[in-house]
Amino acid sequence: MTAAMTADMTDRYAVAGNPVAHSRSPAIHAMFAQQTHQAVDYGRLLCPLDSFTATLRAFADGGAKGANVTVPFKFEAFALAARRTPRAELAQAANTLRFDAEADGGWLADNTDGVGLVRDITVNAGVPLAGQRVLLLGAGGASAGVLGPLIEARPSEVVLANRTVDKAEAIVARHRQWAADHGVVLRAAGLDAPGEAFDVLINGTAASLAGGGVPVGPQTLRTGGLALDMMYGPAARPFLDWARAHGAQARDGLGMLVEQAAESFALWRGVRPDTAPVLAALRAEVDAAQAH
Ligand code: ATR
Repeated sequence: MTAAMTADMTDRYAVAGNPVAHSRSPAIHAMFAQQTHQAVDYGRLLCPLDSFTATLRAFADGGAKGANVTVPFKFEAFALAARRTPRAELAQAANTLRFDAEADGGWLADNTDGVGLVRDITVNAGVPLAGQRVLLLGAGGASAGVLGPLIEARPSEVVLANRTVDKAEAIVARHRQWAADHGVVLRAAGLDAPGEAFDVLINGTAASLAGGGVPVGPQTLRTGGLALDMMYGPAARPFLDWARAHGAQARDGLGMLVEQAAESFALWRGVRPDTAPVLAALRAEVDAAQAH
């Protein structure tokens, strides 16, 4: 096979967002492609804030097969797709698009963030969710994106706590039937009295980015329980330090990042990569960056 033929057979994907310069998705997908021997070229697609759709359509018209979508376009990505998976419908947001032809039904929108989070907790961290009590902090896109799959893991209870309670209530209302179908008690709360001693505490707020520290008290933690921040690197550090100081098992969002990527890769390519070596490589990179 000639080099030109190989290039012709390579399918293109990208992470679309603004900003995207620091995204680790290209490195993750390059490792997946190498491991699974898939001819995939995955890059970055910086989209102007006012022309996400046009930029993405031009990318697809140029022959690309799909895209991951990140801040701030996950809602627009959901809106513009012809078809949506049930978990994208629950989230009302998409982080993955597959550019299927009109004849095949048109673009498919999925949201792999939640299943990525659940896999990281239950498989990578080895912490069960079934029958456990879960507190999810925040009612922005990050939390809305993961609530459906969290419920699907059948914890006994999920409390969605947010500074602005109305926003938590709106997301809870949208998931009410889903929770009932899975036998999960679901309620919204404020940050002042969300409840105590949760088995799993998940931070989906932007509080640490805003310099606001941890938005709940340590009574929310159970000793030995899991406290996970969906961010990684310096943004996650205040929450993780706080969790460790209060006897919880602390975990950042790097595993979730790799797992959601693997799920997108599987949707596009029909093959699921082994995430463990990729997470280990990424962990080493991030630790080295933080040491400097
Ligand atoms: P994303 O889509 O990334 O989740 P977002 O929609 O801006 O981002 O949501 C950010 C979340 O962090 C919100 O739940 C926000 O609370 P409000 O809904 O009350 O705005 C939460 N947040 C941001 N700064 C916070 C702070 N200092 N303390 C508590 N919560 C905070």
